[in-house]
Amino acid sequence: MIIAIDGPSASGKGTLGRLLAFRYGFHYLDTGLLYRRVGQKLLCFGHSLTDESLALRAAQELDFVLPDDPALRSREMGNAASIVAAIPCVRAELNDFQRLFSLRKPGTVLDGRDIGTLICPDASVKLFVTASIKVRAFRRFQELREREEEVTQDVVLDDLERRDQCDAVRAVSPLRVAPGATVLDTTTADIDSVLDSAVCVVEAALALDGLRG
Ligand code: CDP
Repeated sequence: MIIAIDGPSASGKGTLGRLLAFRYGFHYLDTGLLYRRVGQKLLCFGHSLTDESLALRAAQELDFVLPDDPALRSREMGNAASIVAAIPCVRAELNDFQRLFSLRKPGTVLDGRDIGTLICPDASVKLFVTASIKVRAFRRFQELREREEEVTQDVVLDDLERRDQCDAVRAVSPLRVAPGATVLDTTTADIDSVLDSAVCVVEAALALDGLRG
């Protein structure tokens, strides 16, 4: 079974994805980390984030066993990721790995922006996790502060507005609710109730898969 989770930044899709993967014993992939790593490689070598051929090379040379590097979760890498993620050849280069990952047994959970629309359009479970921009900005602000990044809520809000816009209007794989996806709005819901709603969707899909044999 494949569980595809999409949604904007800091909507809670990563937390939900990890909890679902743990609950069902599935493999979990945070696809945003792939784009963050491409951005990190470019910045490390002092290259421009909009240099398409160097970005493609960084994607081609990506070590898919990503290092457990807290720097990848930084604000700078989030912003860098959203720039390289708009480059079509970078996305195309990373698609095969994500599709191959999605086929791992006994099942997988992938979260990103185009999992239900492009990477795994036939996933048995598609979720779109969202929340108001203010709530998302507050959550991201808290996460960054816990990692001791010096940042204000207003700066985080600006980042998210810019990234939402960039993700929504880019020519390739813009963020959309996939056909058939269940929308989970986490603005006022705590993680337990979001998890409960997601589990209901997964259980219904498992029952259907069982009926189909
Ligand atoms: O947690 P947050 O959404 O801030 O970060 P992320 O999921 O690591 O994604 C960082 C950036 O990568 C996003 O702003 C997207 O532009 C891009 N991304 C994407 O385009 N497609 C994906 N499947 C995952 C991330």
